[in-house]
Amino acid sequence: MFITFEGIEGSGKSTLIGLVEGELLGRGEDVLQTREPGGTPAGDSVRSIFLDPAMRIDPIAEVMLLNASRAQLCVDVIRPAIRAGRTVLCDRFYDATIAYQGYGRALEIDGLLQVCLVATGGLSPDLTILLDLPAELSHERVLARARGGGHGVDRLEQESLDFHRRVRDGYLQMAQRWSSRFVVLDATQPPEVLVPQVLAAVAHVRERIRQTIP
Ligand code: TMP
Repeated sequence: MFITFEGIEGSGKSTLIGLVEGELLGRGEDVLQTREPGGTPAGDSVRSIFLDPAMRIDPIAEVMLLNASRAQLCVDVIRPAIRAGRTVLCDRFYDATIAYQGYGRALEIDGLLQVCLVATGGLSPDLTILLDLPAELSHERVLARARGGGHGVDRLEQESLDFHRRVRDGYLQMAQRWSSRFVVLDATQPPEVLVPQVLAAVAHVRERIRQTIP
């Protein structure tokens, strides 16, 4: 099963993925956690270029960089894990390109989707958890983390509040368009409330997959 987690910055995605992974491991499942951009040596190099505030990167160049990292991750990590029957938890996948580069940078959505599907070899998630958060709250959380001595503000976090509003609205539109695989959760809720909601969504999709196997 292939599960992705999406949401704007400060939505608590990474914390939630760690907790969900812990729960699934505790049930004896074979789980692999990875992320985008990154997850392979080549992908990690792309990540550091992509997030570097000193870099000027054209939106189309962003799409190509992200999909280079994605193609490598699919071939080296995600497809082998799925083939081995593992549960893959991925912190962002191609929906992030549709949301950030499509809605955020105003690139054409369906063209972008085609490029992403070339990079993944047609692979899409079975379940996508969208942690929804108002852009204003995201902005406050990112600034608070930077002030609190966490890592500095990266190239995407430096984008305007309007950019992040477009990304958030884009994600919500995508969740409607692909409603069979998206589950939208309110990211203002604490992790102890969100974890059972994710586990319920996983169980539901797993049952649906089981029913389609002849
Ligand atoms: P994060 O994984 O720590 O949230 O940081 C990744 C950043 O990269 C985040 O701001 C979203 C952005 N991003 C895109 O703009 N497009 C993409 O396709 C992906 C995977 C990430």
